[in-house]
Amino acid sequence: MEVVIRQNYNEMSKLAAQMVAELLNTKPNAVLGMATGSTPLGLYQELVRMYKQGQLDFSRVMTFNLDEYVGLPGNHPQSYAYFMQENFFRHVNVPAQNINVPSGTTSNYPAFCDWYEKRIAECGGIDLQILGIGSDGHIAFNEPTSSLSSRTRLKTLSKQTIDDNARFFERREDVPVYAITMGVGTILEARQLLLVASGKSKASAIAQAVEGPVTSMVTASALQLHRDATVIVDEDAASELTMREYYEFIYAAKPAAPRA
Ligand code: F6R
Repeated sequence: MEVVIRQNYNEMSKLAAQMVAELLNTKPNAVLGMATGSTPLGLYQELVRMYKQGQLDFSRVMTFNLDEYVGLPGNHPQSYAYFMQENFFRHVNVPAQNINVPSGTTSNYPAFCDWYEKRIAECGGIDLQILGIGSDGHIAFNEPTSSLSSRTRLKTLSKQTIDDNARFFERREDVPVYAITMGVGTILEARQLLLVASGKSKASAIAQAVEGPVTSMVTASALQLHRDATVIVDEDAASELTMREYYEFIYAAKPAAPRA
């Protein structure tokens, strides 16, 4: 796993966007795995900026989102489908038919989950999966104790995640209790993983994911099993890492390292 520490949220976002841009420049028909939440907003804004300046083209890109709240239709302002539309898709040229977000309103979740997995495979698999991390160490909505081999399925959100995400809803009771989410096993099959984290509230989860044991109690620790995983953190999110100097030494010595 490569750990890169950037001074602040903007620098973290720029470097992450640069990695996505590098992929699209070498593979214009890449399959991108998308994440929602506050953390990737800066990364999406940077990609939109590059697109508007003619540096990026998404016309052949295919996307798969990690997760969606159960019970929220795509036009609900707190749904992840809506989030993606507002914060990314409506600003760039990903063709509508190339966008895949799990359905939060299907009548048959097991069938939909099977279909989603098959669709990813039919498209050749995910080239680069963008990830955030929950303060409980989750990736997507793979809450503590999720199997590290899990596939797309329904999950019950943890109390911690419901508390964390209540900020997006009018009342805590409005936060859905269930989500449809790619599994840890699904995520690990992406050819490249890119996790972004910012802020003190993520410091403990990042330290556990990067330097702790691989455990289903911190599903982000499964990134340690991946051969091409990059974790980009800002100073605050890096504040509990013990091997910081080593990560900085590796990054500084890397000749082809992308620079934000
Ligand atoms: C959302 C997702 C979640 C978030 C995580 C962090 O698609 O996969 O795992 O990445 O909950 O959310 P923020 O960035 O809002 O702190």
